[in-house]
Amino acid sequence: MPDSTPHSRRYYGVTTLLSSHPDMRRLKRTGLATHLHGNKLWGSAYLLMDYLHEHPLEPGSRVLELGCGWGLASIYCAKYQQADVTALDADPAVFPYLALLAEHNQTAVKTVSGDLTALSEKELGEYDTLIASDICFWDEMSEALYQLITRAIDAGVKKILIADPNRPPFIDVAEACIDDFFAELLPREINARRRHSGSILLIENA
Ligand SMILES: C[S@@+](CC[C@H](N)C(=O)[O-])C[C@H]1O[C@@H](n2cnc3c(N)ncnc32)[C@H](O)[C@@H]1O
Repeated sequence: MPDSTPHSRRYYGVTTLLSSHPDMRRLKRTGLATHLHGNKLWGSAYLLMDYLHEHPLEPGSRVLELGCGWGLASIYCAKYQQADVTALDADPAVFPYLALLAEHNQTAVKTVSGDLTALSEKELGEYDTLIASDICFWDEMSEALYQLITRAIDAGVKKILIADPNRPPFIDVAEACIDDFFAELLPREINARRRHSGSILLIENA
């Protein structure tokens, strides 16, 4: 497949569809309404793919993407990192978009509808790696995300990667994780259709 067509683009080997693509137009015409900002691909997903391109996961990793939206990072991990990927979102209206993109990328991602803040230690313990992009955009999300990270660490999740455009609620979580879990906050910037910048919160649980 060429790098881009009039209605699609390709980044890190993953095809994304523009809103002008006939399949995307068809899906939008069904009146499927997303809420919680799952209405498009967000730039931080590209930051996450860029990081994973340079720092691949261990083959066979069991990956859970939190607040997956249209699931670009999940598709990347399933297609190029030999990962067993589950994509979770509180808004089931995002999944037809994820399924459409997965189909165009000839790959498969399992999806689960659920609230990431309600995931138990037992449920989190089924995964080696948690990934996420742009999931901490309201002040009230900070504490819930911090508590989720704490449960994941207690559950033995080995790696947590969260990309964000440096929204203040995310920075609050990142600072707490640096203090409590020896996390790193890695600045990142890329050019994909337009410039995206932000950080990757990396927590490695030895
Ligand atoms: C800004 S979008 C980012 C989507 C995707 N990660 C990306 O980077 O393109 C935030 C996503 O998080 C989901 N979300 C928000 N709160 C959530 C929660 N408590 N549990 C699960 N998903 C949630 C929304 O439905 C939405 O799809």
